[in-house]
This record gives sequence, structure tokens and C-alpha cells, in this order.
Amino acid sequence: MQQRTLGTTGPQVSALGLGCMGMSALYGDADRTESIATIHAALDAGVTLLDTGDFYGMGHNEMLIGEALRSAPAAARERALTSVKFGALRGPDGDWSGYDGRPAAVKNFAAYSLQRLGVDHIDIYRIARVDPDVPIEETVGAIAELVEAGHVRHIGLSEVGADTIRRAAAVAPIADLQIEYALITRGIEERILPACRELGIGVTAYGVLSRGLISGHFSRDRQLPANDFRGMSPRFQGENLQRNLDLVDALRKVAEEREASVAQIAIAWVLSRGEDIVPLVGARRRDRLTEALGALDVALDADDLAAIEQAVPADAAAGERYPAEQMAHLDSEH
Ligand SMILES: NC(=O)c1ccc[n+]([C@@H]2O[C@H](COP(=O)([O-])OP(=O)(O)OC[C@H]3O[C@@H](n4cnc5c(N)ncnc54)[C@H](OP(=O)(O)O)[C@@H]3O)[C@@H](O)[C@H]2O)c1
Repeated sequence: MQQRTLGTTGPQVSALGLGCMGMSALYGDADRTESIATIHAALDAGVTLLDTGDFYGMGHNEMLIGEALRSAPAAARERALTSVKFGALRGPDGDWSGYDGRPAAVKNFAAYSLQRLGVDHIDIYRIARVDPDVPIEETVGAIAELVEAGHVRHIGLSEVGADTIRRAAAVAPIADLQIEYALITRGIEERILPACRELGIGVTAYGVLSRGLISGHFSRDRQLPANDFRGMSPRFQGENLQRNLDLVDALRKVAEEREASVAQIAIAWVLSRGEDIVPLVGARRRDRLTEALGALDVALDADDLAAIEQAVPADAAAGERYPAEQMAHLDSEH
């Protein structure tokens, strides 16, 4: 497995990470047995980075990963690195009620995550969204204390803009910024990616397939269950969906000429954007994982990249990447 290093202070990780969110939440129901088999298959293939959030299914995702790690061969378990997000507040009905980045809350969240994951440290720890009532310096300072005490190895950030990145990096070394980045989601290129590069911070990119929209497997007539985020996502609605899938049709032609799948081309494009970027693929089935890992064998030359960007020009996406009320929580969009 190819390796990449997260920033100047972060760990070496597999060039593709596995994002486990969809195994517990946000994309409708998932199959538990298949989810664990997918994590095992990823570890077996050399994937070392497993990404989760304590709020993905209210602890469900961490317990799932804990179970998968316990039942994996010892060598794979020892190589695995956990990347955990915290801070989102949920209710028993699954509702979202803000973020908590107070230092005492950070340590409380961490204590529960360590227990659910069944590990003695978390490799990268980050608040999912900035708490508007708590300066980022205080939240990052609390994680730095967890690093000092040995409970956490590295500090990460999630969905923050360049100014917040600079403030956080002034407090403690930051390994990576986790943020959405894809052929149809290129907002980080102007200010955020340059700031990360200037400060020696890596990027773990999520939504590389735009939550399946540009995977080549999403169809116009797919019915989404009520608990699927995509049912509320502007990019998956009506006319927007039609226009976005037209982009996928153009990308499919490019992929076919290169004997790759649409998903592989989309992932390979993100891989091509820099050695400091590690795509997190959201596979929750082994067949999807196998397809995603195939992107590592897709070498794109300048002509390929030009053809891809002609098929899907920057800013071609129809619709915002989150509903308006969730966009408001994104420090990265302000
Ligand atoms: N920091 C943040 O704010 C944030 C936000 C969101 C996610 N994340 C992290 O990033 C990870 C990845 O995000 P994501 O799941 O939205 O990304 P994604 O990789 O863009 O989308 C994953 C979805 O694409 C579909 N898909 C189709 N073909 C696929 C293939 N070959 N490989 C993988 N997926 C394929 C699957 O949907 P179907 O199974 O329905 O076909 C899958 O659930 C998450 O698991 C989570 O850990 C972070």
C-alpha cells in the first residue's frame, strides 16, 4: 500500500483512508456484518487510517470499529490508526443541537471514545465543527493536554477556514485538516489548501465521491430512506441532481477511455492533487472498497487531468454541498 505523511508533524498513513460514517449513520441503514468485513478487508489490504466520529450513530460507529479491531489479526490491529471527531451534540431522536468545544467537554468526549473504541490512545483527535462559543485556542489547548497525557497522539481540525487554521496552529502542532474536497467540491483551493501547505498541515479529504453522487453508481430514480442525508442535500435534489449526473455521464466517457471506473477516476483525481492529501473513501461494502482501492493503480498524466477537468469543470456542481442551516456551521465557508 502506498503511504503518505500527514503534514510535517503527523503520522504516516495509507494513501487512502477508510471513512466509516456510512456504516452507522447518514446514508440509511447499513449491514453490520458487511461493515465489519469491509473494515477487515481494508486493514488486510494495508489501509491503516480509520476515520470516525463519536456522534456517528451516537457511539455506534466507534463500537463497530472497536469490534472490528478486536477481531482483526494482531498485526493489522497494531498498524491501524484511529481518527476521531467529537463535539456534535445529539438527542435521543437523532436531532442535532450544536457543538461543544469546552475543555472539560473535550476530555469527557475523549474518555468515552477511548472506552468505546477499546484503545489506549486516539491517533488523531479533532472537533467536527468549531463551537462558536469557545475560542478554537481553548479547544485545541485541551486536545494538546490529552496529547501530553498520552491519550491522543496528534491534533486535527475539521471544516475550518484559513484564519482558524492559523489560530489553531499557533497553539500546538496540527497534523491534518479534514475537509470536503472532490472534483465538484473545490472550495479549499483558493485559501485553505495554501494555508495548510504554508503551515505544514496535511489534508484528509472526505466526500471525494460527493457522497456517492459522482461515484458512477448513483441513479436519477434512486429512492432514499428518510434517514439518508442525501435526501436533504441540495446537490441531490431535482434539477440539481439532473445537472450533476450529466457531469458524471461526461466523466464516464473519460473513465471508459482509461479502462477505469468513474469512482476510480474521481478518487485518483484527488490523489493527484498533492502528496499531502489523503482521500477518505466511504466504502461500506467490500465490493465498493475493492473498487476504491483500484484508484491507487490509476496513473493520471497531464492529458488525462485535462480531459477530466474538461468533463467536470471547477464550479460545475449544481447546489451547495450542505443544506443552508448546516452550511452556517462551516467555519470553512465564512
Ligand atoms: N469532517 C467532516 O465534516 C466529515 C463529513 C462527512 C464525512 N466525513 C468522513 O469522511 C468519510 C467519507 O465521506 P463520505 O462517506 O461522505 O464520502 P464518499 O466516499 O464521497 O461517499 C461514500 C458513499 O459513496 C457511495 N459509493 C459508491 N461507490 C463507492 C466506492 N467505490 N467507494 C466508496 N463509496 C462508494 C456509497 O454510497 P452507497 O453505499 O449508498 O452506494 C458510499 O456510502 C466518512 O465516512 C467520514 O468518516 C467527515
